[in-house]
Amino acid sequence: MSGMSDQPVLVVDFGTTSSAAAVVVGETSHLVPDPVTGAATWPSAVHWDGESMIVGALAERRKRSEPTAYATEFKRGMAADVPMVLGDRRFRPIEQVAAVLTALRAEAERRYGAPVRRTVVTIPASYGPDDPRRAQMIAAAEAAGLGPVELLPEPVAAAFAPVAGPPPVPGELVLVYDLGGGTFDTALVRIDERWHEVLGHSAIDDCGGRDIDSLLANRIHSDGQQWLAPLLVSAANSQSAPATLRLGMAVTDFAKRIKHQLSDTPTVEDFLLPDTPAYRLTRAELAELAAPLLDRTIACCRQLLDELGVPPAGLGSVLLVGGGARMPAVAEAVHHAFGRPLRQVEEPELATVLGAARWLPRSGPRTIRASTDTSQMVPLSFVLPGGWAQLLRWLIVPGQPYPAGTPLARVRLAGGTLWDLVAATPGTIDRLLVPPGSEVASHQWLALSTS
Ligand SMILES: Nc1ncnc2c1ncn2[C@@H]1O[C@H](COP(=O)(O)OP(=O)(O)OP(=O)(O)O)[C@@H](O)[C@H]1O
Ligand SMILES: [Mg+2]
Repeated sequence: MSGMSDQPVLVVDFGTTSSAAAVVVGETSHLVPDPVTGAATWPSAVHWDGESMIVGALAERRKRSEPTAYATEFKRGMAADVPMVLGDRRFRPIEQVAAVLTALRAEAERRYGAPVRRTVVTIPASYGPDDPRRAQMIAAAEAAGLGPVELLPEPVAAAFAPVAGPPPVPGELVLVYDLGGGTFDTALVRIDERWHEVLGHSAIDDCGGRDIDSLLANRIHSDGQQWLAPLLVSAANSQSAPATLRLGMAVTDFAKRIKHQLSDTPTVEDFLLPDTPAYRLTRAELAELAAPLLDRTIACCRQLLDELGVPPAGLGSVLLVGGGARMPAVAEAVHHAFGRPLRQVEEPELATVLGAARWLPRSGPRTIRASTDTSQMVPLSFVLPGGWAQLLRWLIVPGQPYPAGTPLARVRLAGGTLWDLVAATPGTIDRLLVPPGSEVASHQWLALSTS
Protein backbone atom coordinates (compact mmCIF):
# COMPACT_ATOMS: atom_id res chain seq x y z
CA MET A 1 0.00 0.00 0.00
CA SER A 2 1.43 3.40 -0.91
CA GLY A 3 2.30 5.75 1.90
CA MET A 4 1.10 9.29 2.37
CA SER A 5 4.34 10.90 1.26
CA ASP A 6 5.04 10.03 -2.38
CA GLN A 7 2.10 11.73 -4.07
CA PRO A 8 1.97 15.40 -5.04
CA VAL A 9 0.85 17.50 -2.09
CA LEU A 10 -0.25 21.12 -2.45
CA VAL A 11 0.90 23.33 0.40
CA VAL A 12 -0.95 26.64 0.71
CA ASP A 13 -0.35 29.68 2.87
CA PHE A 14 -3.58 31.60 2.50
CA GLY A 15 -2.78 35.10 3.75
CA THR A 16 -4.98 38.12 4.37
CA THR A 17 -3.37 40.10 1.57
CA SER A 18 -1.26 37.56 -0.28
CA SER A 19 -1.10 33.82 -0.68
CA ALA A 20 1.54 31.36 -1.80
CA ALA A 21 1.50 27.70 -2.74
CA ALA A 22 4.00 24.95 -3.45
CA VAL A 23 3.76 21.47 -4.87
CA VAL A 24 5.70 18.97 -2.77
CA VAL A 25 6.69 15.54 -4.02
CA GLY A 26 8.81 13.64 -1.54
CA GLU A 27 11.71 15.90 -0.56
CA THR A 28 11.38 18.37 -3.42
CA SER A 29 9.07 21.34 -3.66
CA HIS A 30 8.22 23.87 -6.35
CA LEU A 31 6.50 27.17 -5.80
CA VAL A 32 3.38 27.90 -7.84
CA PRO A 33 3.76 31.48 -9.10
CA ASP A 34 0.89 33.74 -10.11
CA PRO A 35 0.67 33.15 -13.88
CA VAL A 36 0.00 36.82 -14.63
CA THR A 37 3.05 38.32 -12.91
CA GLY A 38 5.30 35.31 -12.36
CA ALA A 39 5.63 36.45 -8.74
CA ALA A 40 5.77 33.75 -6.07
CA THR A 41 2.92 35.34 -4.13
CA TRP A 42 -0.63 35.81 -5.37
CA PRO A 43 -2.66 38.77 -4.17
CA SER A 44 -5.50 37.33 -2.03
CA ALA A 45 -7.94 39.20 -4.22
CA VAL A 46 -10.99 38.39 -6.31
CA HIS A 47 -12.94 40.15 -9.03
CA TRP A 48 -16.43 39.04 -10.09
CA ASP A 49 -16.79 39.78 -13.80
CA GLY A 50 -20.46 38.84 -13.94
CA GLU A 51 -19.76 35.30 -15.06
CA SER A 52 -16.74 34.01 -13.26
CA MET A 53 -14.39 34.81 -10.45
CA ILE A 54 -11.03 36.23 -11.48
CA VAL A 55 -8.34 35.97 -8.82
CA GLY A 56 -4.81 37.02 -7.92
CA ALA A 57 -2.87 39.58 -9.90
CA LEU A 58 -5.52 39.74 -12.61
CA ALA A 59 -8.17 40.68 -10.02
CA GLU A 60 -5.76 43.25 -8.63
CA ARG A 61 -5.45 44.81 -12.11
CA ARG A 62 -9.20 44.79 -12.68
CA LYS A 63 -9.88 46.61 -9.44
CA ARG A 64 -9.42 49.92 -11.23
CA SER A 65 -11.91 49.16 -13.97
CA GLU A 66 -14.61 47.95 -11.59
CA PRO A 67 -13.71 48.71 -7.99
CA THR A 68 -17.12 47.59 -6.71
CA ALA A 69 -16.65 44.07 -8.09
CA TYR A 70 -13.30 43.62 -6.34
CA ALA A 71 -12.51 42.30 -2.88
CA THR A 72 -9.45 41.49 -0.82
CA GLU A 73 -8.81 40.64 2.86
CA PHE A 74 -11.84 38.32 2.93
CA LYS A 75 -9.85 36.00 5.23
CA ARG A 76 -10.74 38.49 7.96
CA GLY A 77 -14.42 38.12 7.12
CA MET A 78 -14.47 34.38 7.81
CA ALA A 79 -15.19 34.82 11.53
CA ALA A 80 -18.35 36.90 11.01
CA ASP A 81 -19.21 35.05 7.77
CA VAL A 82 -21.14 37.99 6.33
CA PRO A 83 -21.67 37.80 2.55
CA MET A 84 -20.25 40.63 0.50
CA VAL A 85 -21.71 42.17 -2.64
CA LEU A 86 -19.46 42.00 -5.70
CA GLY A 87 -21.08 43.51 -8.77
CA ASP A 88 -24.45 41.79 -9.09
CA ARG A 89 -23.91 38.95 -6.61
CA ARG A 90 -23.21 38.15 -3.00
CA PHE A 91 -20.36 35.92 -1.93
CA ARG A 92 -19.55 34.39 1.41
CA PRO A 93 -15.94 34.82 2.53
CA ILE A 94 -15.34 31.09 2.13
CA GLU A 95 -16.56 31.26 -1.47
CA GLN A 96 -13.94 33.92 -2.10
CA VAL A 97 -11.29 31.80 -0.37
CA ALA A 98 -12.40 28.80 -2.43
CA ALA A 99 -12.06 30.83 -5.65
CA VAL A 100 -8.44 31.62 -4.88
CA LEU A 101 -7.72 28.02 -3.86
CA THR A 102 -9.34 26.77 -7.09
CA ALA A 103 -6.98 28.93 -9.13
CA LEU A 104 -3.95 27.82 -7.08
CA ARG A 105 -4.87 24.18 -7.64
CA ALA A 106 -5.47 24.67 -11.37
CA GLU A 107 -2.16 26.44 -11.81
CA ALA A 108 -0.30 23.82 -9.73
CA GLU A 109 -1.77 21.02 -11.82
CA ARG A 110 -1.15 22.89 -15.08
CA ARG A 111 2.51 23.55 -14.23
CA TYR A 112 3.35 20.20 -12.75
CA GLY A 113 1.05 18.02 -14.80
CA ALA A 114 -0.20 15.84 -11.99
CA PRO A 115 -3.37 15.99 -9.96
CA VAL A 116 -2.90 17.10 -6.38
CA ARG A 117 -3.61 14.19 -4.06
CA ARG A 118 -3.46 15.89 -0.71
CA THR A 119 -3.36 19.43 0.68
CA VAL A 120 -1.86 21.24 3.62
CA VAL A 121 -3.32 24.66 4.42
CA THR A 122 -1.62 26.81 7.04
CA ILE A 123 -3.86 28.68 9.47
CA PRO A 124 -3.16 31.36 12.09
CA ALA A 125 -2.27 30.00 15.53
CA SER A 126 -5.26 31.96 16.77
CA TYR A 127 -7.68 29.49 15.13
CA GLY A 128 -8.10 27.24 18.17
CA PRO A 129 -9.29 23.60 18.00
CA ASP A 130 -13.00 24.58 18.12
CA ASP A 131 -12.72 27.67 15.93
CA PRO A 132 -15.29 27.47 13.10
CA ARG A 133 -12.72 28.98 10.74
CA ARG A 134 -10.88 25.65 10.72
CA ALA A 135 -13.90 23.87 9.29
CA GLN A 136 -14.47 26.78 6.91
CA MET A 137 -10.92 26.57 5.60
CA ILE A 138 -11.27 22.82 5.08
CA ALA A 139 -14.64 23.32 3.37
CA ALA A 140 -13.19 26.01 1.10
CA ALA A 141 -10.32 23.74 0.10
CA GLU A 142 -12.68 20.83 -0.53
CA ALA A 143 -14.91 23.09 -2.63
CA ALA A 144 -11.79 23.91 -4.63
CA GLY A 145 -11.35 20.23 -5.39
CA LEU A 146 -8.55 19.83 -2.88
CA GLY A 147 -8.58 16.93 -0.51
CA PRO A 148 -7.89 15.41 1.89
CA VAL A 149 -6.98 18.63 3.67
CA GLU A 150 -4.80 19.05 6.71
CA LEU A 151 -4.18 22.17 8.72
CA LEU A 152 -0.85 23.38 10.03
CA PRO A 153 -0.40 26.42 12.31
CA GLU A 154 1.45 29.21 10.48
CA PRO A 155 4.17 29.69 13.14
CA VAL A 156 4.88 25.95 13.25
CA ALA A 157 5.34 26.04 9.49
CA ALA A 158 7.40 29.24 9.54
CA ALA A 159 9.83 27.77 12.06
CA PHE A 160 10.67 25.05 9.51
CA ALA A 161 11.55 27.69 6.88
CA PRO A 162 15.09 27.72 5.54
CA VAL A 163 17.00 30.48 7.33
CA ALA A 164 20.29 32.17 6.65
CA GLY A 165 22.93 30.79 9.03
CA PRO A 166 22.53 27.86 11.38
CA PRO A 167 19.00 26.49 11.75
CA PRO A 168 17.35 26.40 15.17
CA VAL A 169 18.18 23.30 17.20
CA PRO A 170 15.75 20.95 18.97
CA GLY A 171 14.72 22.37 22.33
CA GLU A 172 15.40 25.95 21.29
CA LEU A 173 12.70 28.53 22.04
CA VAL A 174 12.01 30.63 18.97
CA LEU A 175 9.83 33.71 19.00
CA VAL A 176 8.13 33.91 15.60
CA TYR A 177 7.49 37.54 14.64
CA ASP A 178 5.18 37.63 11.61
CA LEU A 179 4.38 41.04 10.19
CA GLY A 180 1.88 40.35 7.41
CA GLY A 181 -0.26 42.57 5.25
CA GLY A 182 -3.31 42.62 7.47
CA THR A 183 -2.22 41.37 10.86
CA PHE A 184 0.70 40.97 13.19
CA ASP A 185 1.09 37.49 14.67
CA THR A 186 3.57 36.26 17.20
CA ALA A 187 4.08 32.81 18.69
CA LEU A 188 6.57 31.18 20.96
CA VAL A 189 7.52 27.77 19.60
CA ARG A 190 9.73 25.05 20.95
CA ILE A 191 11.75 23.50 18.18
CA ASP A 192 11.57 19.77 17.60
CA GLU A 193 12.59 17.48 14.75
CA ARG A 194 9.11 16.61 13.55
CA TRP A 195 6.68 19.04 15.12
CA HIS A 196 7.37 22.39 16.74
CA GLU A 197 5.20 23.00 19.75
CA VAL A 198 3.34 26.32 20.01
CA LEU A 199 3.74 27.33 23.66
CA GLY A 200 1.64 30.45 23.24
CA HIS A 201 0.59 32.99 20.66
CA SER A 202 -0.86 36.44 20.28
CA ALA A 203 -1.93 38.74 17.46
CA ILE A 204 -2.95 42.29 16.65
CA ASP A 205 -5.63 42.49 14.01
CA ASP A 206 -5.11 46.01 12.72
CA CYS A 207 -1.36 46.09 12.65
CA GLY A 208 0.00 44.95 9.32
CA GLY A 209 1.73 46.32 6.26
CA ARG A 210 -1.43 47.83 4.92
CA ASP A 211 -1.82 49.90 8.10
CA ILE A 212 1.61 51.36 7.36
CA ASP A 213 0.41 51.98 3.80
CA SER A 214 -2.56 53.95 5.06
CA LEU A 215 -0.42 55.99 7.46
CA LEU A 216 1.83 56.82 4.54
CA ALA A 217 -1.13 57.55 2.26
CA ASN A 218 -2.38 60.05 4.86
CA ARG A 219 1.01 61.66 4.91
CA ILE A 220 1.07 61.86 1.13
CA HIS A 221 -2.35 63.52 1.23
CA SER A 222 -1.08 66.19 3.57
CA ASP A 223 2.40 66.62 2.03
CA GLY A 224 0.97 66.71 -1.49
CA GLN A 225 -2.12 68.71 -0.68
CA GLN A 226 -1.35 71.34 -3.32
CA TRP A 227 -1.37 68.95 -6.21
CA LEU A 228 -3.56 66.20 -4.77
CA ALA A 229 -6.48 68.42 -3.73
CA PRO A 230 -7.35 69.42 -7.32
CA LEU A 231 -7.26 65.76 -8.36
CA LEU A 232 -9.64 64.87 -5.54
CA VAL A 233 -11.98 67.71 -6.50
CA SER A 234 -12.07 66.67 -10.14
CA ALA A 235 -12.66 63.02 -9.18
CA ALA A 236 -15.54 64.14 -6.97
CA ASN A 237 -16.91 66.40 -9.71
CA SER A 238 -16.84 63.59 -12.25
CA GLN A 239 -20.02 62.40 -10.48
CA SER A 240 -18.70 58.89 -10.53
CA ALA A 241 -18.16 57.15 -7.23
CA PRO A 242 -15.55 54.82 -8.78
CA ALA A 243 -13.38 57.81 -9.76
CA THR A 244 -12.94 58.77 -6.11
CA LEU A 245 -12.40 55.14 -5.15
CA ARG A 246 -9.81 54.78 -7.91
CA LEU A 247 -7.90 57.83 -6.77
CA GLY A 248 -7.90 56.50 -3.20
CA MET A 249 -6.59 53.15 -4.44
CA ALA A 250 -3.95 54.86 -6.53
CA VAL A 251 -2.64 56.84 -3.56
CA THR A 252 -2.58 53.72 -1.35
CA ASP A 253 -0.78 51.71 -4.03
CA PHE A 254 1.65 54.59 -4.46
CA ALA A 255 2.32 54.59 -0.71
CA LYS A 256 2.91 50.84 -0.78
CA ARG A 257 5.29 51.17 -3.72
CA ILE A 258 7.29 53.83 -1.88
CA LYS A 259 7.40 51.66 1.24
CA HIS A 260 8.69 48.69 -0.77
CA GLN A 261 11.38 50.77 -2.44
CA LEU A 262 12.59 52.03 0.93
CA SER A 263 13.37 48.45 1.97
CA ASP A 264 16.05 48.47 -0.73
CA THR A 265 17.21 52.08 -0.90
CA PRO A 266 17.60 54.71 1.82
CA THR A 267 15.76 57.42 -0.13
CA VAL A 268 13.11 57.37 -2.80
CA GLU A 269 11.68 59.82 -5.28
CA ASP A 270 8.55 58.78 -7.15
CA PHE A 271 5.55 60.18 -9.01
CA LEU A 272 1.89 59.39 -8.47
CA LEU A 273 1.15 60.43 -12.06
CA PRO A 274 3.62 61.32 -14.80
CA ASP A 275 2.88 65.03 -14.40
CA THR A 276 2.50 65.32 -10.62
CA PRO A 277 5.43 66.72 -8.62
CA ALA A 278 8.11 64.36 -7.29
CA TYR A 279 7.32 62.82 -3.92
CA ARG A 280 10.39 62.19 -1.78
CA LEU A 281 10.71 60.13 1.37
CA THR A 282 13.62 58.69 3.35
CA ARG A 283 13.85 55.35 5.11
CA ALA A 284 14.23 57.21 8.42
CA GLU A 285 11.01 59.14 7.78
CA LEU A 286 9.15 55.93 7.02
CA ALA A 287 10.60 54.31 10.15
CA GLU A 288 9.36 57.25 12.21
CA LEU A 289 5.91 56.92 10.69
CA ALA A 290 5.84 53.16 11.36
CA ALA A 291 7.35 53.42 14.86
CA PRO A 292 4.06 53.49 16.84
CA LEU A 293 2.93 50.41 14.96
CA LEU A 294 6.18 48.55 15.48
CA ASP A 295 6.08 49.53 19.16
CA ARG A 296 2.72 47.79 19.41
CA THR A 297 4.16 44.62 17.88
CA ILE A 298 7.02 44.65 20.39
CA ALA A 299 4.61 45.22 23.30
CA CYS A 300 2.52 42.29 22.04
CA CYS A 301 5.62 40.02 22.05
CA ARG A 302 6.66 41.20 25.52
CA GLN A 303 3.23 40.53 26.92
CA LEU A 304 3.25 37.04 25.45
CA LEU A 305 6.66 36.30 26.96
CA ASP A 306 5.47 37.69 30.30
CA GLU A 307 2.40 35.49 30.28
CA LEU A 308 4.50 32.46 29.49
CA GLY A 309 7.09 33.38 32.11
CA VAL A 310 9.90 33.34 29.56
CA PRO A 311 12.41 36.18 29.89
CA PRO A 312 13.87 37.51 26.61
CA ALA A 313 17.20 35.94 27.63
CA GLY A 314 15.45 32.56 27.45
CA LEU A 315 14.85 32.99 23.74
CA GLY A 316 17.23 31.13 21.45
CA SER A 317 16.32 33.44 18.61
CA VAL A 318 13.65 35.59 17.05
CA LEU A 319 12.46 34.55 13.60
CA LEU A 320 11.35 37.44 11.39
CA VAL A 321 8.76 36.49 8.78
CA GLY A 322 5.98 38.06 6.72
CA GLY A 323 6.46 40.61 3.96
CA GLY A 324 6.59 43.43 6.51
CA ALA A 325 9.82 41.97 7.88
CA ARG A 326 11.55 43.29 4.75
CA MET A 327 11.50 46.75 6.30
CA PRO A 328 14.90 47.35 7.89
CA ALA A 329 13.14 49.12 10.78
CA VAL A 330 11.65 45.79 11.87
CA ALA A 331 14.95 44.03 12.49
CA GLU A 332 16.22 47.15 14.26
CA ALA A 333 13.19 47.36 16.54
CA VAL A 334 13.28 43.64 17.40
CA HIS A 335 17.02 43.65 17.99
CA HIS A 336 16.74 46.73 20.16
CA ALA A 337 13.88 45.23 22.19
CA PHE A 338 15.20 41.73 22.83
CA GLY A 339 18.90 41.71 21.98
CA ARG A 340 18.58 38.08 20.85
CA PRO A 341 19.94 36.52 17.64
CA LEU A 342 17.68 37.23 14.68
CA ARG A 343 16.88 34.62 12.07
CA GLN A 344 15.79 35.89 8.71
CA VAL A 345 14.36 34.19 5.68
CA GLU A 346 15.53 35.46 2.33
CA GLU A 347 11.95 35.94 1.16
CA PRO A 348 10.07 36.48 4.41
CA GLU A 349 6.62 36.47 2.75
CA LEU A 350 7.36 32.89 1.66
CA ALA A 351 8.56 31.63 5.05
CA THR A 352 5.25 29.99 5.93
CA VAL A 353 4.75 28.15 2.63
CA LEU A 354 8.42 27.11 2.35
CA GLY A 355 8.41 25.95 5.96
CA ALA A 356 5.23 23.93 5.46
CA ALA A 357 6.84 22.32 2.41
CA ARG A 358 9.91 21.36 4.47
CA TRP A 359 7.78 20.07 7.31
CA LEU A 360 5.98 17.54 5.10
CA PRO A 361 8.81 15.09 4.42
CA ARG A 362 10.08 15.54 7.99
CA SER A 363 6.74 14.73 9.49
CA GLY A 364 7.51 11.10 8.66
CA PRO A 365 5.07 8.24 8.39
CA ARG A 366 2.25 9.50 10.55
CA THR A 367 0.76 6.29 11.85
CA ILE A 368 -0.81 5.20 15.12
CA ARG A 369 -0.73 1.49 15.96
CA ALA A 370 -3.73 -0.32 17.38
CA SER A 371 -3.66 -1.23 21.03
CA THR A 372 -5.03 -4.78 21.02
CA ASP A 373 -4.54 -8.03 22.83
CA THR A 374 -4.34 -11.39 21.13
CA SER A 375 -7.74 -12.96 21.87
CA GLN A 376 -9.95 -14.23 19.02
CA MET A 377 -12.42 -11.39 18.36
CA VAL A 378 -10.64 -8.16 19.21
CA PRO A 379 -11.88 -4.59 19.37
CA LEU A 380 -9.55 -2.16 17.60
CA SER A 381 -8.81 0.98 19.55
CA PHE A 382 -6.09 3.59 19.45
CA VAL A 383 -4.46 6.16 21.69
CA LEU A 384 -4.97 9.45 19.86
CA PRO A 385 -2.69 12.41 20.55
CA GLY A 386 -5.02 15.16 21.78
CA GLY A 387 -7.60 12.57 22.85
CA TRP A 388 -9.86 12.56 19.82
CA ALA A 389 -9.92 12.64 16.04
CA GLN A 390 -12.27 12.70 13.12
CA LEU A 391 -12.39 9.42 11.24
CA LEU A 392 -12.26 10.47 7.59
CA ARG A 393 -12.44 7.08 5.91
CA TRP A 394 -11.83 3.42 6.32
CA LEU A 395 -8.95 2.12 4.21
CA ILE A 396 -9.97 -1.51 4.47
CA VAL A 397 -13.18 -3.46 3.92
CA PRO A 398 -14.65 -6.08 6.26
CA GLY A 399 -13.74 -9.62 5.33
CA GLN A 400 -10.41 -8.72 3.74
CA PRO A 401 -7.45 -10.20 5.66
CA TYR A 402 -4.62 -7.78 6.38
CA PRO A 403 -1.06 -8.15 7.68
CA ALA A 404 0.32 -6.28 10.69
CA GLY A 405 1.23 -2.71 9.78
CA THR A 406 -1.70 -2.22 7.38
CA PRO A 407 -3.25 1.27 7.48
CA LEU A 408 -6.87 0.67 8.49
CA ALA A 409 -8.30 4.17 8.65
CA ARG A 410 -7.34 7.79 7.95
CA VAL A 411 -8.08 10.30 10.71
CA ARG A 412 -7.67 13.99 11.29
CA LEU A 413 -6.30 14.71 14.75
CA ALA A 414 -7.55 17.58 16.89
CA GLY A 415 -4.56 19.64 15.72
CA GLY A 416 -5.66 19.36 12.09
CA THR A 417 -3.09 16.92 10.68
CA LEU A 418 -3.83 13.60 8.97
CA TRP A 419 -2.71 10.27 10.37
CA ASP A 420 -3.26 6.62 9.54
CA LEU A 421 -4.46 4.14 12.15
CA VAL A 422 -2.45 0.99 11.66
CA ALA A 423 -3.03 -2.66 12.55
CA ALA A 424 -0.69 -3.90 15.27
CA THR A 425 -1.33 -7.56 14.45
CA PRO A 426 -2.67 -9.41 11.40
CA GLY A 427 -6.43 -9.91 11.24
CA THR A 428 -9.65 -9.58 9.35
CA ILE A 429 -12.20 -6.88 10.05
CA ASP A 430 -15.47 -8.42 11.14
CA ARG A 431 -17.46 -5.25 11.64
CA LEU A 432 -16.87 -1.50 11.45
CA LEU A 433 -18.34 0.25 14.49
CA VAL A 434 -18.13 3.89 13.40
CA PRO A 435 -19.00 5.45 10.05
CA PRO A 436 -16.67 7.86 8.21
CA GLY A 437 -17.06 11.43 9.42
CA SER A 438 -17.51 10.44 13.07
CA GLU A 439 -15.57 11.94 15.90
CA VAL A 440 -13.76 9.19 17.75
CA ALA A 441 -11.96 9.14 21.08
CA SER A 442 -8.87 7.42 22.42
CA HIS A 443 -9.64 3.83 23.46
CA GLN A 444 -13.00 3.88 21.70
CA TRP A 445 -13.78 0.64 19.86
CA LEU A 446 -13.66 1.49 16.17
CA ALA A 447 -14.04 -1.97 14.68
CA LEU A 448 -14.10 -5.65 15.62
CA SER A 449 -11.48 -7.85 14.08
CA THR A 450 -10.70 -11.58 14.15
CA SER A 451 -7.07 -12.51 14.46
N1 LIG B 1 9.91 45.01 0.04
C1 LIG B 1 8.98 45.20 0.99
N2 LIG B 1 9.17 46.16 1.94
C2 LIG B 1 8.24 46.38 2.89
N3 LIG B 1 7.09 45.71 2.98
C3 LIG B 1 6.85 44.76 2.06
C4 LIG B 1 7.78 44.43 1.05
N4 LIG B 1 7.28 43.43 0.30
C5 LIG B 1 6.08 43.15 0.82
N5 LIG B 1 5.81 43.94 1.88
C6 LIG B 1 4.59 44.00 2.65
O1 LIG B 1 4.29 42.74 3.20
C7 LIG B 1 2.89 42.63 3.40
C8 LIG B 1 2.41 41.29 2.92
O2 LIG B 1 3.07 40.34 3.68
P1 LIG B 1 2.60 38.82 3.72
O3 LIG B 1 2.49 38.32 2.33
O4 LIG B 1 3.48 38.13 4.66
O5 LIG B 1 1.15 39.04 4.36
P2 LIG B 1 -0.09 38.07 4.48
O6 LIG B 1 0.39 36.71 4.84
O7 LIG B 1 -0.97 38.23 3.32
O8 LIG B 1 -0.86 38.73 5.66
P3 LIG B 1 -1.33 38.12 7.04
O9 LIG B 1 -0.16 37.40 7.62
O10 LIG B 1 -1.75 39.34 7.76
O11 LIG B 1 -2.45 37.19 6.73
C9 LIG B 1 2.25 43.77 2.61
O12 LIG B 1 1.79 44.77 3.50
C10 LIG B 1 3.39 44.29 1.77
O13 LIG B 1 3.30 45.68 1.51
MG1 LIG C 1 0.93 35.48 6.48
